[in-house]
Order: sequence, then C-alpha cells, then structure tokens
Amino acid sequence: MYTPAITGTGVFTPSETVTNAELVTAFNAYADLYNAEHADEIAAGMVEAKEHSSEEFIVKASGIEQRYVMVKEGILDPTVMYPKMRQRSDDEPSIMAEMALKAANIALENAGKTAADVGAVICAASNLERAYPAVAIEIQDLLGIQGFAFDMNVACSSATFGIQAAADMIRSGSIRSALVINPEICSAHIEWRDRDCHFIFGDVATATLLEREEDATGPYFAVKSTRCATSFSNNIRNNNGFLRRSRPDGMKDRRDMQFMQNGRKVFKEVVPMVSQHIMDHMADEHLDADDIKRLWLHQANKSMNDFIGKKVLGRTPEPHEQPNILQDYANTSSAGSIITFAKHSADLKDGDHGLICSFGAGYSVGSVLVEKHG
Ligand code: COA
Repeated sequence: MYTPAITGTGVFTPSETVTNAELVTAFNAYADLYNAEHADEIAAGMVEAKEHSSEEFIVKASGIEQRYVMVKEGILDPTVMYPKMRQRSDDEPSIMAEMALKAANIALENAGKTAADVGAVICAASNLERAYPAVAIEIQDLLGIQGFAFDMNVACSSATFGIQAAADMIRSGSIRSALVINPEICSAHIEWRDRDCHFIFGDVATATLLEREEDATGPYFAVKSTRCATSFSNNIRNNNGFLRRSRPDGMKDRRDMQFMQNGRKVFKEVVPMVSQHIMDHMADEHLDADDIKRLWLHQANKSMNDFIGKKVLGRTPEPHEQPNILQDYANTSSAGSIITFAKHSADLKDGDHGLICSFGAGYSVGSVLVEKHG
C-alpha cells in the first residue's frame, strides 16, 4: 500500500465578473418586461407577477458579492438571460476541456511535474457538456497524458469523490498519480430568470494533482483518509437529459431543465448531515477539534459554513480556520472547496491536519483528511 498525497493544485478563474448590482439591475429589468408582457394574465390571476430581486437579500442570505463567468454576453440582457456561448466545432477543444487545461497546467507547475508524470485523469464536475466521448479523455489527449481517463458526476461533491477514487487507486498501486479536474460552467445551468437562485452560481475550474507521497518534490498534503456518503433527495434537481426529446413538452422552455432547489430544506437537512459526517470522520481518525487546523468547506452559503464550522469545532471558528471564497466566486459547485484549499493552505505547518469537505445535490457529502508535510 502507498500513501497518496496532494502535491499540487490549480485554479483557473475566468476573466469576466458579474457583480450583485449588475445582476439585480438586469433581473429587475427582465421582471418588469415580463410583467408588462403578461399584464392581462397577471390581472386575471392566471400568471404570477415576478417580484424584484435585491442586493441586500443576496448578501444577507448567501454572503455572495460577485461571480466569475466564462461568457458574460446575454446574462445581463433582459431579453436573453443566459450566457450566449458560441457553438464549437467537434475538432476544437470543448469549453470544459479548455478550462480544465488551464487549471491542470497550474496544478502541474505548482507540483513541479509535467504531463509525463500523470497516470490518469478524472473529470469530476456537476455538469458535463456532452454524454460522450468523456471530457476527461479529451483533456487527457490535450495534455498528452498516457494511461486512462473518465468522467464522474456527484454534483457539488464531485471533487472530493474524485479525490477519493484517485487516492484509492494510488493507495492500491493501480496508478502512480492522477489529476482530478473540476471544470464548472454553472452559468449555463443556473436559471437567471428566477430570483430565488439567479445569484447562486459562478464559473471556475480547479485541478488537484495526487501522487504517491514518495514522488512529491516539494511540500505536500498526505491524504490520511477519505469518507463519502450519499442519501437520496429531490431538493436539488435538474431534469435535463437525453430523454428530453422523447417526452411530451420535453423540448419546451421548461423550468426544470435548469437548476432547481428547495433552498430552505437543503439548508436545514444538509447542515446536520455534513456536521455529523465530518465529526464521525474525525472520530474515526482519533482527532479532536483542536487537532484540525483548517476546514476547507464547500462554498454554497456563508451561514451554512458558519453553522458547520461551529458544530465541528465546538466554537465559532476564527476566519483563518474556516476560510470562505464564496463572496468573490459565488457557489462554483464541486470546485468551491478546492479553490479554498488552493488559496488557503500554503501557510499550514509540517504535521498540521486539515479537512476538505464538499456537499450538495444527491444529497452527497465527501471529506478528505490531509496532513501537511514540508
Ligand atoms: N431578492 C429578494 N428577495 C428574495 C430573493 C431575491 N433574490 N430570492 C428570494 N427572495 C425572497 C423569497 O421569495 C422569500 O420571500 P417570502 O418570505 O415572501 O416567501 C424570502 O426572500 C426568503 O427566501 P428564502 O428562499 O426562504 O431565503 P433563505 O434565507 O432560505 O435563502 C438560499 C435562500 C437559497 C440562499 C438559502 O436557502 C440557501 O443557501 N440554501 C442552501 C443552498 C445550497 O447550499 N444549495 C446547494 C446548491 S449546490
């Protein structure tokens, strides 16, 4: 058995941002337009009027101040309200592969390694832009990596589930190293016309290089253990899929073809599930709250993270103990905890323990307990 280690991470951040102010202005213009277009039906009680969104609500309810997006065009146009992505030919890199490549190259450089050192690629993301061929195999080809690659989707938990898969393969010796990559184009699956969720998501790509501990050439985080758990829930759901064309009304502009959630229920049900999951993982490893120097949590909602941090540590965590990046990035689905880890882990000392945890649709929760070396 070998000890797997995280030897490098990379974050690719798109160049365009959408601030809450821009978002709310566009949404309110859209709502006004919609209400004017449906004035008669609204007056007859057949259609519900759309209410305005508010910056104050967004910051208070979520902690989000802005988000990055791959394509801004269309998102803020009240007559469009989605990103206008160009159609790519089958012979050019897909948008997910393009983002993934950028994050992967940063992770390799961070670890002082090249594609020749990598034995597998896992593209773990909450949305895959096509059914096949696997985006991971395209990334593998573009990077010039030998070995194999596959896609996996466990929604917001994809990164930690991907890390567990890679770590287990390294532990058993079937591979020597793997890149787990999380290209998230959430801007394309969010419903920008729904004020309940239009503020939630942003785009990003993260990459994590895992290797045998002995192959690390710089400071690294040994993966002590991982835990994954799932429990079925319809409270976060997207019904889009290849059966769409085969169903009556399947091709219509249907709300359930985009991200849907019952946010209140998610909040109430997921916070205790995640807190218990982390505490059980720590207990299995005979670690107390004082032994955990940092929690890198999934970045969906600031209050959710505050509750989880407080429950796990038994006190209000100091900001550096449980850093958040969601104010700048919003919810980037599976990538959120990895952005936080990549940006807030270099200062940990030799022997310090920390825990990466992601959670979300499924429900699903995954945790990775790491120990700093070097
Ligand atoms: N602007 C102004 N008001 C808004 C609004 C907006 N953009 N969006 C919703 N509201 C209104 C609601 O309609 C509701 O009005 P009502 O009380 O008259 O019904 C009120 O504000 C409260 O809405 P609610 O949805 O209950 O707010 P909340 O405090 O639960 O916060 C979330 C909403 C989504 C931020 C929160 O529930 C959450 O973060 N849940 C978990 C999300 C999550 O982790 N998802 C995982 C996705 S991977």
